[in-house]
Amino acid sequence: MKIVRAKNYADMSRKAANIISAQVIMVPDCVLGLATGSTPIGIYAQLVDWYNKGDIDFAQTVTVNLDEYCGLDQSHPQSYRHFMDEHLFRQINIDPKNIHIPDGKAADTAAECRRYDELIESVGGLDLQLLGIGHNGHIGFNEPADAFSENTNCVTLGQSTIAANARFFTDPSEVPRQAITMGIKAIMQSRKLLLVVNGADKKDILQKVLFGPITPQVPGSIIQLHPDLTVIAADAL
Ligand code: PGA
Repeated sequence: MKIVRAKNYADMSRKAANIISAQVIMVPDCVLGLATGSTPIGIYAQLVDWYNKGDIDFAQTVTVNLDEYCGLDQSHPQSYRHFMDEHLFRQINIDPKNIHIPDGKAADTAAECRRYDELIESVGGLDLQLLGIGHNGHIGFNEPADAFSENTNCVTLGQSTIAANARFFTDPSEVPRQAITMGIKAIMQSRKLLLVVNGADKKDILQKVLFGPITPQVPGSIIQLHPDLTVIAADAL
């Protein structure tokens, strides 16, 4: 595990963007696992900036996002597809056919979860997975539970996750109660993991994730077992 203490959010974002851009420059047709939430916004802004300067080319890059809310259409302003379009995809030269996000509107959720796992397998797994961490220790939307969820699955979001995500919605009652998330297996099989954490409010959970017991009650704690994990934290160590 490599732990990097960033000076601030901008520094965290630039350092993480450096690792992602190095991956894309070295292996242009790599598979990037991407994340949503407030933490990666600065990383995406930095990547867009370097793209505009001609330093990175995403023409061959494949992306696979961690999760999506159930019931929200791709065009819904709070859908994760919309978030990714806004912050990254619309601003770079990625081929739309190489963008993958679970379909939150799929009629058959179980079939959609299976399709997503097959898709990840068909692209050869992930080269680099970007992760954030929730206050309850979730990675993707893998919430605290009695066992780790191996495969892509439909989860009922915990109260703390719903409360944390309510800030993005006009009314807390609009926060979807369920989401489709990549499972722990695909995340752990990613050849590299990059965890970004920002803010003193994540200090306690980051300690548990990195140094506490490995338990499905703190789903992110499993990344301690990953052989190529980089953590970049600002104000959270
Ligand atoms: P945040 O979310 O970046 O908005 O704090 C992280 C997460 O819940 O994984």
